[in-house]
Amino acid sequence: MPGRQLFCGKNRMLAVFLSVSLVAFSRSHSGSSASASTSNRNRTDSTSSQELNDRESFAGDAACGSCHSAIANGYLRTAHHLTSQIPSENSVTGKFAPGSNTLRTYDPNLHFVMTAAKGGYYETAVFWQPPDEQEQTERIDLVIGSGQRGQTYLYWKGDRLFQLPVSFWAPLSEWVNSPGYTDGTADFTRPVVPRCLECHATHFTAIPSPPLNNRYRRDSGVLGISCERCHGPGREHVALVKSRLSNAQSLPSNAAPVMAAPENLKIVNPVNLPRERQIEVCAQCHGGLGEERAPAFSYTPGQPLESFLHLLRPDPSAKVDVHGNQVALLERSRCFQNSSKITCNFCHDVHTTERAAASYSDRCLTCHKPENCGMYPKLGAEIANNCIDCHMPVQDSNAIVSNVGGKQVKMQIRSHWIKIYSAQ
Ligand code: HEC
Ligand code: HEC
Ligand code: HEC
Ligand code: HEC
Ligand code: HEC
Ligand code: HEC
Ligand code: HEC
Repeated sequence: MPGRQLFCGKNRMLAVFLSVSLVAFSRSHSGSSASASTSNRNRTDSTSSQELNDRESFAGDAACGSCHSAIANGYLRTAHHLTSQIPSENSVTGKFAPGSNTLRTYDPNLHFVMTAAKGGYYETAVFWQPPDEQEQTERIDLVIGSGQRGQTYLYWKGDRLFQLPVSFWAPLSEWVNSPGYTDGTADFTRPVVPRCLECHATHFTAIPSPPLNNRYRRDSGVLGISCERCHGPGREHVALVKSRLSNAQSLPSNAAPVMAAPENLKIVNPVNLPRERQIEVCAQCHGGLGEERAPAFSYTPGQPLESFLHLLRPDPSAKVDVHGNQVALLERSRCFQNSSKITCNFCHDVHTTERAAASYSDRCLTCHKPENCGMYPKLGAEIANNCIDCHMPVQDSNAIVSNVGGKQVKMQIRSHWIKIYSAQ
């Protein structure tokens, strides 16, 4: 979602980034009395030891992969796994070669230069002209975004995490001002709040720190979206399966399946949850920003999401931006409302990379016949090749807008409102 933010015209273009920080900012302001900060400090201590205990019930992706190797190998290439990484030649998609490593701003006295050196990758803001030039340089410490659409970069200052002012936008293959930043400014002070990391990483232990709310235990970060964000803590499952397997070795070879009674496997399989709970596993990150009811990273699949995160249910007539809220859009579809089968994983296999969009037409045809479509008389049988582009078109997001050379470029995201679109 990187891009240059334009504030001319309507203010609808406020990016998720901006709203994340603003929401956190205003909430923490309302509770920052002296007594609140003391009790916050007490809570810090108990929260972090509580969290450490909780983390002990997680096994980590490497453990899961030791038995579920086919799933784990396929998962390594997914956008979920790659959505937050340590900077390296493989993870950073931005360009650092001279000639393509500069971002000019409308202000002739400010430009940015991105450099790669032995110590890592850096963003430098260069103010004024020679001989009066002044610089601020920060190192890229974390990479957010698989890079399909783009990447935003973060840096540590002590135990505080900040966003860097320049992002890389994949469709243009160019550096741009990070979303929400005003062109012609060099702002290195935007805090990265827990909700941002909650959608793009597995875990970070936050240290309550109003008003910025961007302190973390630096050694607590687990990057990428792990198996256990969707399956819940797995340490008990691993122990149980291991003991069943070792017991099985002493059984005759025709013994009943080792893993009979799968409900006792002490791990959440989303397909066994009721539909609403199943969709909540995805909605923790694909249902919009919401309002936090509990600390980030405390939701466990299978429990009601509402106790952890209150998702705003948009008014049926309100426009929902295509960015980051596939849940609200899908729920508006008559297909979803009039059948009980559709969930996110009815179409998506999240263990592997996405297949071509048109190929998902096979999912539509489990309920519809090509002849049911009003366009069938005109298009005939070939209609079956691509229900998607007509009924789930790619649309412009108004939340992520870039201004390039005086032109507006909007991020394009596929709509999950399955319906008849008039402009076809
Ligand atoms: C020691 C081997 C082993 C490890 C380690 C392991 N599993 Fe399993 N898992 C199994 C076996 C065996 C089954 C049952 C047969 C099957 O579904 O493959 C199973 C089943 C499952 C199921 C289906 C459960 C159901 O009720 O349908 C899920 C989900 C799962 N594992 C996830 C995980 C995750 C996530 C991890 C890492 C935290 C993990 N497993 C670690 C061996 C293991
Ligand atoms: C509520 C969950 C949520 C929050 C909060 C959130 N994001 Fe995202 N982000 C997403 C989703 C989902 C996508 C995938 C695109 C889509 O569905 O709109 C995405 C896409 C991105 C991308 C593009 C990745 C790519 O290559 O396609 C970047 C970069 C990004 N987010 C950075 C951030 C940063 C930085 C923050 C916090 C300052 C943040 N996001 C906050 C959910 C979130
Ligand atoms: C984004 C959410 C998500 C992530 C991340 C995820 N899974 Fe799953 N997993 C699911 C869903 C949803 C299902 C049910 C799929 C179905 O049967 O339709 C599932 C099913 C399973 C199953 C049982 C069915 C099967 O296909 O064998 C296993 C085992 C499993 N996952 C292991 C893993 C492992 C190991 C990882 C990490 C490498 C992982 N999952 C990561 C969502 C996820
Ligand atoms: C912990 C947060 C989180 C959870 C849980 C989650 N997602 Fe995502 N998902 C993201 C983010 C962030 C992205 C964008 C990743 C990127 O490109 O950097 C994404 C991207 C995707 C994509 C696009 C993949 C691609 O290759 O472009 C699909 C499809 C998707 N998610 C489906 C699901 C489904 C289905 C579930 C539930 C079973 C789910 N997600 C659960 C955060 C999450
Ligand atoms: C699980 C079954 C199911 C699946 C899968 C499904 N639909 Fe539907 N769809 C329905 C039902 C039920 C209706 C409502 C029919 C009615 O009310 O007469 C519907 C309605 C529609 C409508 C009319 C919507 C409106 O607002 O008038 C369109 C268009 C449509 N589906 C297209 C699709 C496409 C394209 C796909 C695949 C992306 C798809 N459907 C997948 C069951 C399904
Ligand atoms: C009827 C089938 C269907 C269902 C149900 C469905 N999706 Fe999708 N989704 C698609 C198709 C088709 C694409 C485009 C895939 C591609 O471009 O390769 C897509 C793409 C996405 C993307 C990437 C968006 C982009 O513009 O690249 C995300 C994120 C996503 N889906 C999340 C979800 C979530 C979360 C749910 C459940 C609320 C869900 N999907 C339910 C069919 C579906
Ligand atoms: C070229 C674009 C296009 C393609 C491809 C297409 N549709 Fe349609 N579909 C439409 C339009 C336009 C309408 C409305 C037609 C009308 O009102 O007469 C429609 C109507 C429908 C309806 C509603 C019918 C009703 O009476 O309410 C369904 C269901 C449907 N399509 C399903 C599908 C499925 C399934 C596929 C893939 C096999 C598909 N469509 C492919 C454009 C398309």
